[in-house]
Amino acid sequence: MKSNILRPAFLLLAGLGVASATLWGCNKGKPAAETTTNTAQTDRMNIKTESFGKTKEGTEVQLYTLTNQQGVQVKITNYGATVTSIITPDKNGQPGDVVLGFDSVAGYQSNAFLKSGPYFGAIVGRYGNRIAKGKFTLDDKTYTLATNNGENHLHGGNKGFDKVVWTAKPMPEQNALQLTYVSPDGEEGYPGTLTATVIYTLSEDNALKIDYTATTDKATPINLTNHSYFNLAAGQAPDALGHLLMLPADRYTVVNASLIPTGELRPVAGTAMDFTKPTAIGSRLAQVKGGYDHNYVLTNTDSGSKLAATVYEPTSGRYMEVFTTEPGIQFYSGNFLDGSLTGKNNTNYKQHYGFCLETQHFPDSPNQPEFPNTILRQGETYKTSTSYKFSAQDQQPAQ
Ligand code: GLA
Repeated sequence: MKSNILRPAFLLLAGLGVASATLWGCNKGKPAAETTTNTAQTDRMNIKTESFGKTKEGTEVQLYTLTNQQGVQVKITNYGATVTSIITPDKNGQPGDVVLGFDSVAGYQSNAFLKSGPYFGAIVGRYGNRIAKGKFTLDDKTYTLATNNGENHLHGGNKGFDKVVWTAKPMPEQNALQLTYVSPDGEEGYPGTLTATVIYTLSEDNALKIDYTATTDKATPINLTNHSYFNLAAGQAPDALGHLLMLPADRYTVVNASLIPTGELRPVAGTAMDFTKPTAIGSRLAQVKGGYDHNYVLTNTDSGSKLAATVYEPTSGRYMEVFTTEPGIQFYSGNFLDGSLTGKNNTNYKQHYGFCLETQHFPDSPNQPEFPNTILRQGETYKTSTSYKFSAQDQQPAQ
């Protein structure tokens, strides 16, 4: 991100009162020499904690605000380990909120939200995406999961990780928030007690990094991801269809009518599925029945962190890069948004207002022996990492 546009954004955010004094507590009153020599001190950021309201079940949940010195601010609640807001400056230094969500936990528990089930910003699990007919066989035993998407299991079932209260621990030294959830043996039909930990870290280079770890006491499928919906125009465009998306993926997992993979990995070349070069999300949407809701197979199969997507929004100049250790990324073009939800800043979420880039293992892997493994066994540690990095650019960066 260009440093010349960041400083005004920082001042503007503070001036707008978006942040309280505690948010901006880093380096305050320290002489320049000290801030440049004492890294441990300068890295220590204050993490604001405030109430996010009470759940229907009567549990008080919190909202945590991570802020960096570049004018980026991320809000996360321990309800569903959900990212509720990401404020980043545009090319003129104007801050804007680039994710969909609500101002209090009530929004995430409203009947309209639960009915349309968009999973705004949440961590989905134990298995993000679909498992056919909610059934799989593991070590000769067949398990039956809750079915909540027609005959299939989606995003962890009726009460997935997006609908539970996580235990939060702010980590000010790292400008991070740790969230832990212990999923009991048998929850939504899954075997084994699974301890899942998610650490959100906001860096000074404007990346929101998400580190996932988990352990289990019995073999279980696992596929954790974040379900944020992005709209980098932050109110300056009527929908997200003008965003230029690039996915470095030369194949995708072909699905049947209920969005279960057939097992075929089909080349994207020459079709409306091809985003290997930056292309407007809306330009070929009409050619894809139901809109984009597909798992892309990243061409780079390195198990380390590699580029998984870039998105450029021409009006605001905002640019987002996604990096992941995962083999796949679900591109979902907000097809099921239908205008029934109105979120933060009184914004109505009509169809295609936001889109998701869910880094993941492939859907239905427990039933697809050819797909990369999603079974975690006792004694192993599940470990994946994804970053969403924000900047502002005058034009689409060269790929
Ligand atoms: C995922 C799924 C979609 C939809 C959304 C939530 O992206 O693949 O089909 O269920 O979550 O609405």
